Amino acid sequence: MKTILQLTMGLILLVGLAECDPDPLQDYCVASTQTPPSFYGNGVPCIHPQLAKSSHFATSSLSKPGNTDNQFGFNISMTNTTNLPGMNTLGLAMARLDIGPDGIVPLHSHPRASEVTILLKGTLFVGFVDGSNRLFNRQLRPGDSFVFPKGLIHYLYNMDKDEAALALSGFSSQNPGLQISSFASFVSKPGIPDEVLEKSFKIHSPDVAKIRRNLGG
Ligand SMILES: *[C@@H]1O[C@H](CO)[C@@H](O)[C@H](O)[C@H]1NC(C)=O
Ligand SMILES: *[C@@H]1O[C@H](CO)[C@@H](O)[C@H](O)[C@H]1NC(C)=O
Repeated sequence: MKTILQLTMGLILLVGLAECDPDPLQDYCVASTQTPPSFYGNGVPCIHPQLAKSSHFATSSLSKPGNTDNQFGFNISMTNTTNLPGMNTLGLAMARLDIGPDGIVPLHSHPRASEVTILLKGTLFVGFVDGSNRLFNRQLRPGDSFVFPKGLIHYLYNMDKDEAALALSGFSSQNPGLQISSFASFVSKPGIPDEVLEKSFKIHSPDVAKIRRNLGG
């Protein structure tokens, strides 16, 4: 009887140890070699539970339209642990997307979250590309939703030349991360060497310079 109990306990322990790592909440978490180490956690430290108030779980940060008068014609407001402290560790976030007439949220990916978008106003043409370079796209009308799988490159384009679009997105991480493909490729700091871009995109040096300039780099 005792042996069976010990075996069971051993198994439970082993299974516990075989659990996978928690998902990272930051782009990177460089190991500290300092002794004693200074404290850097995966996420944000919490206040004492007794100090929690209703207001910690509410925010108006998505209530106002963002100004879309910029390079791509979009503006995104996100909940985060500053404007909505109660969301810390809950594994979710929300965004308001204002996309002006003919505006686009250009090709980008969220390294840590899947995204589900519901269109509230206007029309949007959205899509993502999977790991085998297959495109999945859809025209959305108000009330329609679309889901973008975690980490895959996607876009949201307002093809309407007159009307602005308004959409809401939910994310499966409190810190989804954002990498805009064109910026990451052409206006990183320091810049990716021209030769690498020329070979990667099969273009010539003047093309690289032109794209960098167009992107404000
Ligand atoms: C988004 O809108 C806010 C509020 O109007 C504005 O302060 C901010 O500069 C805008 N962001 C971009 C990238 O245009
Ligand atoms: C949260 O978003 C606000 C803008 O709404 C920004 O000023 C702040 O730095 C962000 N905080 C974090 C932790 O990202």
